[in-house]
Amino acid sequence: MKVCRTIAEFRAQIATYRTAGESVGLVTTMGALHAGHRALVERAVAENDRTVTTIFVNPTQFGEASDLENYPRTEDADLALFDAAGVDAVLIPDAAEIYPEGEETIVETTRLANVFHGLVRPGHFRGVATVVAKLFNIAQPASAYFGEKDYQQLAVIRRMVTDLHFPIRIVGVPTVREADGLAMSSRNVRLTPEDRAAAPILNASLDAAQQRAGQGATAEQIGETISNVIAGEPRATLKGLDIVWADSFQPAAGPEERTIGVMITAELGEVLLIDQREITP
Ligand code: PAF
Repeated sequence: MKVCRTIAEFRAQIATYRTAGESVGLVTTMGALHAGHRALVERAVAENDRTVTTIFVNPTQFGEASDLENYPRTEDADLALFDAAGVDAVLIPDAAEIYPEGEETIVETTRLANVFHGLVRPGHFRGVATVVAKLFNIAQPASAYFGEKDYQQLAVIRRMVTDLHFPIRIVGVPTVREADGLAMSSRNVRLTPEDRAAAPILNASLDAAQQRAGQGATAEQIGETISNVIAGEPRATLKGLDIVWADSFQPAAGPEERTIGVMITAELGEVLLIDQREITP
């Protein structure tokens, strides 16, 4: 596996693949890799001749400086995981190269960035879209792989790719969970043992939502069920709950035979966790 520290090195490496007529799949990450990232890489390896990845803790998508500082950094373990999973090349750039001095350009999906989870974390999706656009332009892959757990992020990236005509196929990969149902996340290591024990409540609330949907409940009733289940866990505070039509990403209401996407944000101690599920009645 080739480890590149500059954009030029990474591009030169990818150019050798392209010249050989090989397809390139991209997995972008902020490091602190876990089984969820491995699933993205495995899918990319299965579908492409070459898989390239990035590790970049993107400062523009963090609200509070402390969140950025506390973000886990585990480069040696990350490289070992990528290597074992079959990655061909990885870019680990400096922030100063990704955001050149005097930079002015941002990418924002104007509606999607500022609704739902975007209201809890202002500026977050603008930071994500901006950095992903840069990484797409750097790597120019045929396909790029993102977790469905970050449901709104996936919608933002799909919208951006459509609007900016990136010739890239976006692949959503199902959420990987711990045995007790907690969605894999780089943030999980920051949970105290007590909060870790309480964290599967997010998945439990989605199970309850699915059950209610099966009984013909409206989007509003499904929302109430989720709020009640989370309220039953004193260590968890519900910070965001959004139910959207999966096909349009508009707020869902009423009983309709359409697939909904449910997004939850909950705080456990200092850690903000998200989870998501698509539910078809
Ligand atoms: O999902 C992530 O890890 C990040 O938001 C991404 C897509 C790598 C952009 O920094």
